[in-house]
Amino acid sequence: MLANKSIVLGVTGGIAAFKVAELASQLTKAGALIDVVMTRGAMEFIAPLTFQALTHRPVVTEMFRLLTETEIGHISLASRADLIVVAPATANVIAKLACGLADDMLTTTILATRAPVLIAPAMEENMLTNTVTQANIASLRERGMVFVESQFGRLASGKIGKGRMAEVDDLMVAIRKIIAQKGDLAGMKVVITAGGTHEPIDPVRFIGNRSSGKMGFALAEAARDRGAEVTLILGPTYLQPPKGVKIVNVETALDMKRAVEGVVADAHVLIMAAAVADFRVEQPAEQKIKREKLDGMDLHLVKNPDILAQVSNPGLVKVGFAAESQDLVENARAKLEKKHLQLIVANNITSPESGFGVDTNKVTLVDAAGNVTELPLMSKREVAEQVLNKVGTLRSSS
Ligand code: PMT
Repeated sequence: MLANKSIVLGVTGGIAAFKVAELASQLTKAGALIDVVMTRGAMEFIAPLTFQALTHRPVVTEMFRLLTETEIGHISLASRADLIVVAPATANVIAKLACGLADDMLTTTILATRAPVLIAPAMEENMLTNTVTQANIASLRERGMVFVESQFGRLASGKIGKGRMAEVDDLMVAIRKIIAQKGDLAGMKVVITAGGTHEPIDPVRFIGNRSSGKMGFALAEAARDRGAEVTLILGPTYLQPPKGVKIVNVETALDMKRAVEGVVADAHVLIMAAAVADFRVEQPAEQKIKREKLDGMDLHLVKNPDILAQVSNPGLVKVGFAAESQDLVENARAKLEKKHLQLIVANNITSPESGFGVDTNKVTLVDAAGNVTELPLMSKREVAEQVLNKVGTLRSSS
């Protein structure tokens, strides 16, 4: 999604400038075309050559230099930018932007642009909380600029307080979100379930399954990066869920049902990648069951409700997953029909590189019109993109 996007990265004079080298590197690896514009202050902290080496592009440090023989630098940068990021942003540059000053290449470019502007402040806590800085931030927000809040932690002075620049991962999420506003899922509400459910036996033990959440995470990230407003309903997992999506943590199938019902009313798409337990223990023990008291143990199981089959809203595109070890397409098609789905992702779990816990997957897409598309082994992120492409065609043909 960032491929060939033109991003102006404005670096101003703060110690966090060194972190922005990592940001420039990640954006370049993602395929974005990065034009770094440095203020004089920034060059006291980090050399232009660092950014030039990371972005493979010239770094702009002077106002009065033509980019090519004919291009006026700030006008050219301002008009070709898809996004301008200022990181770290000092109190000084924020004040200049709030006043509309244009006394260097960065402020001039920002004044001349129609592109969205993302600002990551970094400064001492007293400067940040000063009413002048707060008023400047409020005024820029009012004019549509987006801020990635600074964080609490160790500051340049050695003091602990608020004012540290946001982490590079958070900046990447914020950048992706802004670029995604022009994505094909912009304005759509997408609900995704991920992971397995835990059905308690007693306060310590549960019935569970091998789902890690990875497939659902990949779907959530892909939908987020294509502009959707994503709610991720997540069973227990040790993995870190994606940023920039709304997370609802659940434990059991009944919790998941309530959570899905709570958000699906105004959703456009529901994709259930979760491995929901089909059965639960009817009466979980209130206290830990003691081994010594048992001579064998019977668990009385009752069926869990079928969430996907029961949930609906007019116009909702429902997508299921089916992890199958045999008769892949036939079994998946039966589930598609029973649960009234528009699409089912038949998940081949016969190979160690596909299905539970791994980063790759081999799936076949089966839709309600009878179309069957077998995909090769690919990353879960690539599977997610293919599923969302298919959702896009189903929505436009419905
Ligand atoms: O999390 P990972 O480690 O990445 O693994 C991903 C996965 C293998 C779990 C995933 O890709 C997958 O295949 N999920 C579906 C697992 C499955 O076999 O589901 P099922 O056949 O039991 O159910 C079919 C569909 O109905 C699923 O969309 C399921 O979420 C849904 N369902 C099932 C039972 C139930 N009570 N309610 C439901 O809504």
